Amino acid sequence: MALKIMILGANGFIGSALTGAILRERDWEVYGIDLTDNKLGELPRDERFHFVEGDITINKEWVEYHVKKCDVVVPLVAIANPAQYVTHPLRVFELDFEANLAVVRHCVKYGKRLVFPSTSEIYGMSPDAVLDEETSPLVYGPINKQRWIYAASKQMLDRVIYAYGVRDSLDYTLFRPFNFIGPNLDNIEEPKEGSSRVFTQFLSNVLHRRPFKLVDGGRQKRSFTFIDDAVECLLTILENRNGRATRRIFNIGNPDNCVSIRELAERTIRIAQEFPELRAAAKATEITEVSAGEYYGKYYQDIQVRVPAIEAAKRDLGWQPHTDLDTAIRRTIDFYVKLGSFDPLNAAASGL
Ligand code: UGA
Repeated sequence: MALKIMILGANGFIGSALTGAILRERDWEVYGIDLTDNKLGELPRDERFHFVEGDITINKEWVEYHVKKCDVVVPLVAIANPAQYVTHPLRVFELDFEANLAVVRHCVKYGKRLVFPSTSEIYGMSPDAVLDEETSPLVYGPINKQRWIYAASKQMLDRVIYAYGVRDSLDYTLFRPFNFIGPNLDNIEEPKEGSSRVFTQFLSNVLHRRPFKLVDGGRQKRSFTFIDDAVECLLTILENRNGRATRRIFNIGNPDNCVSIRELAERTIRIAQEFPELRAAAKATEITEVSAGEYYGKYYQDIQVRVPAIEAAKRDLGWQPHTDLDTAIRRTIDFYVKLGSFDPLNAAASGL
């Protein structure tokens, strides 16, 4: 029988890409909910996609009813933007932790499989050069560095889910995204600085003819993972052939795409110039430096290097990423160009 998958946050960056891939590549049914549908395009017309506009913190009965009805639950509703960890830490706790805990408990109550997003942030400032799901220590800063409320909320949920696995045999997989990038990551037309994660912030800066700002010189490194590679891994986890993903944690990342933020900035400017719509603006883009305190305020603390170990996913899921960073950058820019984000009229509408 075709799997019934419930996706909370189906209109998000990961949710919309995952929904699209399921409908294209599998015969499963998807039950989705989100605040809006702007990233879903034509997907809601598919008869295997049952989408409602709603808020999981309000439409609680819908959520519980559909956990009961579906086979696998994928709760993707969360605030995942560092600028908001420092400005709205309690909102992060209420949504990322409290609202998601309720969903986890429904899965326990109804014996449903749970595929839950942990995060690369969970490792915090771990001293390990390569971050391993089973062995790496999770290291956070002091309480006055509110940035860590996101990682701490996610860590607590990982521990709760793990404990339900031990005590009640909850069937779960925890996956840890490492800086996924791709179409629909964030809204690049949003003029407010800090409203996006770094790569889409850079695209937004090109659009709004603003300099790139490298926080503390941009020496910190991230491993950028193209969303299509990530979704391929998620499909394998959802499929869960022979229960190979059950009660496991998998990093989903691309260690070959580990670069400094300065290098990401330089590559973005170079590749943007391949597109006629962006050439002049990209060529004129300056790279400047800013302190973390100036950019994020006093509650921020950064992570210097983040490289995933992906042996577990390779060995046990038969998955590995294929998309190099330049291709990921190019395909994402191409998406925003086709969307019309760089058209002069849209630029005018967004405050140029
Ligand atoms: C991200 C977010 O917490 C989540 O999206 C997610 O859980 C996780 O990590 C992930 O995607 O793996 P981070 O990588 O710090 O955290 O977020 P970005 O906003 O993408 O920033 C990356 C780096 O670029 C940071 O060191 C930041 O200081 C820097 N940055 C950001 C700049 O130098 N300039 C900018 O304009 C913006």
